This record gives sequence, structure tokens and C-alpha cells, in this order.
Amino acid sequence: MIQKSTIDRIMEATDIVEVIGEFVQLKKRGANYVGLSPFANERTPSFTVSPAKGIFKDFSTGKGGSAVTFLMELEKFSYPEALKWLAKKYGIEVEETVEAPENREEELRRESLLIVSAFAAKFFHETLLETEEGRSIGLSYFKERGFSTEIIKKFELGYSPDQWEAFTETAINMGYQPQFLEESGLSVRRENGSMYDRYRGRVMFPIHSSTGRIIAFGGRTLKKDKNVPKYVNSPESEIYHKSDVLYGFYFAKKSIREQDNCYLVEGYADVLSVFQAGIENVVASSGTSLTTEQIKLIGRQTKNITILYDGDSAGIKAAIRGLSLLYKERFNVKIVSFPDGHDPDSYVRNQGSAGFKYYIENKAKSLVEFYLTTVDKGDLIDPVKKIKVADDLAEILSNNLEPEFRKDYIKQVAENLKIGEAGFLNAVNKLVLAKHNKAFEQNRPVLPNPDFESDNSDIEEHRDEIISTDLLYSDQSQEKEIVRLLLHYGSRMIDWDGIANTYIGPFIIAELSDVTFDHPVCKQITEIYRREVENGVLPDEAYFIHHKDKAIVDLTINMLASKYSLSENWYEMHRITVNDEQVNMKATILGAIFHLKKHKVGKMLEDLRTQLQKADTEADQEILLNQYMRMKKVEKSISDFLGSVIIK
Ligand code: CTP
Ligand code: MN
Repeated sequence: MIQKSTIDRIMEATDIVEVIGEFVQLKKRGANYVGLSPFANERTPSFTVSPAKGIFKDFSTGKGGSAVTFLMELEKFSYPEALKWLAKKYGIEVEETVEAPENREEELRRESLLIVSAFAAKFFHETLLETEEGRSIGLSYFKERGFSTEIIKKFELGYSPDQWEAFTETAINMGYQPQFLEESGLSVRRENGSMYDRYRGRVMFPIHSSTGRIIAFGGRTLKKDKNVPKYVNSPESEIYHKSDVLYGFYFAKKSIREQDNCYLVEGYADVLSVFQAGIENVVASSGTSLTTEQIKLIGRQTKNITILYDGDSAGIKAAIRGLSLLYKERFNVKIVSFPDGHDPDSYVRNQGSAGFKYYIENKAKSLVEFYLTTVDKGDLIDPVKKIKVADDLAEILSNNLEPEFRKDYIKQVAENLKIGEAGFLNAVNKLVLAKHNKAFEQNRPVLPNPDFESDNSDIEEHRDEIISTDLLYSDQSQEKEIVRLLLHYGSRMIDWDGIANTYIGPFIIAELSDVTFDHPVCKQITEIYRREVENGVLPDEAYFIHHKDKAIVDLTINMLASKYSLSENWYEMHRITVNDEQVNMKATILGAIFHLKKHKVGKMLEDLRTQLQKADTEADQEILLNQYMRMKKVEKSISDFLGSVIIK
């Protein structure tokens, strides 16, 4: 376990805007920062960060919490992983106490894989730079390709010796466990149980996670032999999911955000050359079409992407295939293709950094323009061939584009081909419709689809259920209100009726000592509050925001974010008028306490009524009736109190 003192230091050092800013583009708005939710696909920013409170709230998914929670949600870190990430960022040394062996196992396994991978990268890197074989084969290859020592070091490029067991043997001698060597794919097990190196005589490209840890490798052969695979890549493992990773992302992240654009290339070499040329906002999909996960990764930094592809037709097809997902995620997409079979890597080397920059900045094309560059000029003159081009474009547009993008492109096609816009639009729409129908046939819904059926029998049928869950919530709203007030005002002094030297929090807790909370998390929070107060501590917002229990953190965030807003949007959405509760603190606090009490009494009365109905003997009835009358009096006095003392 990480020591409490370390956690405190981490929390103290953490600047939530800075941390979240690494993943989300934030703009200052008033006291807060807003940005597009990294958890949802939205167009108007509802993701809000409050530096003063040290929390974020995502109004489109309801997620919220501290910087730690954020990292856990977004990067799927465990609690200690998130803390360690922050510790690393802020240069804080992590002190750990001995761990209870619960979730520890999985975390240990992941950590072991990461450690083995880091060791392997170091091994390959040192082999490249410091051994005879590495220098004469690997390093000279990289140098020939024009990679500087600086870039080789930054990306930790390496070389794997051309032997069967060089790496595996070293690793085992150094105490790394065979199990992790195998799981990471660095070593392969033979039938007889012994192990050999997966990478032999290859130049090595370590693949970093978005937080900079090495999670996999690509190894390129230097042999010309057609039977040898050009690249050998790490298999999927607990730390490496290929479809979630973009090569170079860790190094590009900052620049992508600053430039508000991301260059996408195909291969490792392209990333290195382009980066070396001073264009650092570059990542590679590593030879496959972009996945949704990869697109989301980029989308947290920018919504502008420029695809740099080989000029050959395979490259172009790959580029067009990758587009539909990008449009779905609402990216602005530009495409640059390179002349005469050049790829970004060869073009930089050929033209130099300035020439390359000029080219990509001036030759970036939209989808339509890009497609037209692949078409023979003559085809646009011959009317029959022109129809074919238009049909092809209609097909591409119908596949790729969200309606809002489509309109723009249809205009472009009409202008470029000099054909009627309405007619072309019609052609595209027909294709879109045909595809919808086909998809609909294939996934014919079993339940009535609300888009196709006009009756609402479904809703009617469930109306009772809907209302009763509503009631359930409002049932506990008084309890939540108490929690909200504790969090907001607990550590303020009471300033009414001459009550001196008393804080609001302990006052509320004392006043409610006879009340049992029903809402499990409210109950937990008030109990923790009571316990801490008894220990002489006044827990503040941060205490609950950083609590280990996620349910507590969630409720805390929701309470802190409600009414006293994080987001102006939220106000408007819920039409909340802030009749400032702080002006009459007495009414606010006592009102909440006595509303809750009244509610509890109401429930007791209801209970007694049911018991009365069931009571068999007169004696029982009398006892119950007495209790009922007493409770009625309590209820009346509470109502009177609420009515007279508190204006509400
Ligand atoms: N790739 C792969 N496995 C292969 C071929 C390619 O994983 N057998 C991936 C690699 O990530 C590679 C990318 O696809 O970087 C692009 O392939 P290619 O253009 O063939 O490789 P380059 O890295 O450009 O290699 P080079 O320029 O050295 O020929
Ligand atoms: Mn290449």
C-alpha cells in the first residue's frame, strides 16, 4: 500500500487542470475550465474542471471525481497506478507499506510485464549502442536511414542479437521470471519447455503506452529474404492491446494539443523521420486501419487530423477505408498523398525538413479533392467516364460521411465535376438509403422499434415502475441534501442565534444523531463524518473527494457539482434559480435537518398505520394508537417549526 503521507504529498502537488489538460483540451471559463468530454462523443463541451475544488465533472456521462479518479476512468488505472502516475509526474518518491494480498495479484502481473518490457528495451538499446554486432549492423542501418542519435535515444530504438537465446538467457540470469518473458512475447517456449528469443537479428522499435511505459515491440528484419517476415510484433498481452495503441502517441501528445492537429502515418520509420524533421505531432497506425479506440485517443487532444499516405493505390484505399470512423467521431480530416511512391519517411529524406513542411501544409486535401487527384484528367472530360467517377464518389460519400459532412462534399463534387448538385445529392441519398434498408433487414429488431411504431404502449406499461423509482429517489433527496450541506458548509462557523464556536458540520451531525439514514452512501458519509468529528477532525471536501471508496467519491462529486455549479450549462438545463442559500444559513441548515426529520416521522406514521390495520387485539391497538398520536404531535411541532422559524 502507498503510505498515507505519500498520498498526501501527491494530492498536494497535483494540479488537476494540468493533469486533465494532458488528455483533454481545456478552455478557461470563469473560475472553471471546460472541454469536450473524453468519455462521450459530444459537440458542445460539458466536461468541467474546477481547479478550486480539485475536481472534474462530466455532465454528459455523469462521471466525476479527482485527478486520481480521472486517471482511473480514462487510463483504466488502478488506484495505486493512478497515484504512481501522478507521483512520477510531480517527482514524488513513492513510499509503500506491505500490501494485503487482494487485488494485488493482477496488478503485480501487469507490473511484472511492464518491468520485463522495460528491461528488454534497455537490453536492445544497449545492444544497439554498445556491442560490436549492434553497432555494425543495427546502428549503421539506422544511421543510413538518416536517424540521429538523439532520435534513436528518445524512442529507445534497439537491436536484438542474431542468436537464439541471447536475450532470454540474460533475462533469466538476471532473475526475470520465465512466465513473464513468455507472456510478454519476448521469449517463445519450445515443446521441450526451454525458451528462445522471439526477436533475432532485428532492429527494435519499442512501443510506448500513452503514459510512456514500454508495452510492446516491433522488430524489423534487415534481411532481404522474402521468406522472412519484415516485421515481428509483440502478441497481445495483459499490457498490450494493439487496437488501443498508436505508435509515437506518447511523444506526440503534447505537440498534438499545442498544434491542434495530428499527423497520421503508416509506419514506425515514418513517425521517426517526421518527428526528427521537427514535426512532433505525428503518430502511426502501424499498418492497419484506424480503430475506434485509436481515434478516441487522438480525439482527446484534437479534432483535426491530417493523414499522410503513400501515393500508391493501396495506400489510398487504406486511407479512404479509415475515414468513415473519423467522420463518425466528427474529425476534420485532411489527406496528403506523396508523389511517385514516396512515403512520408522517404519524402522528408528527399526534400529536407523545410520542403516536407511546405508540402504537407500546402498539399493537404479534402476527401473529394484527394479522390480527384487519383483520377485521370481525361476521365473528367469524357461524359461516360465522368459518370463513373461521380458514381465512385457517391459510393465513397455514402459510406463515409455523416449527413452534416456530406452536404459540403456534395457541393465540392458538383463544382469539380461540373454536374448538378441536386442530382448528385439524390444519387448519394439513394445509396445511403439502400444501405440503411439493408442494415435494417439484417438486424430487424425483435422489439417494436420506437422509430417505426407510433404507439407508446411500452412506456405506458412501465409508467408505474418509472414513477416509483422516481419516488424512491426523492425519498432520499433529503438525505443527500444533508450530505451536500455537510460537504459545502461543514467547516464553517455557525453565525446565528448567538451560537458561538460551533461548526456547522458537527452541529448537523449532532442534530441528526437520532436519525438513521437509508441511502447507503449518505449513511456511510455521515458515519465517517461523525467518527472523524469524534476524533477531533473536521473532514472537508477533499477528504471525501480522495476517498478510496468510489461510491463515496461519486456522491461527493455529484453533491459538490449540484446547485453550486461547476457548469453554467447545468444551471440552464435544470432551470435552477439560485436563491442564495448562504444568505440565510440558519434557514438552510435547520430547514434541511427538519425536513429530513419530518420525512422520517412521516414514514414512521405510515408504518404505524399499517400496523394498526393489522393489529388483532384491542390492547395492541391502544399501544399503537398512543404511539401514533405522539408521533403526530412530533410531526406537528416539526411542521410548525419549519413554517414559523424557517420561511419555506
Ligand atoms: N507492419 C507490420 N508487419 C508487417 C508489415 C508492416 O506490422 N509485416 C506495420 C509496421 O508497423 C510498419 C507499418 O506496418 O511500420 C508500415 O509498413 P511498411 O511501410 O512496410 O514498413 P515501414 O516501417 O515503412 O518500413 P521501411 O520503410 O523500413 O520499409
Ligand atoms: Mn517505409
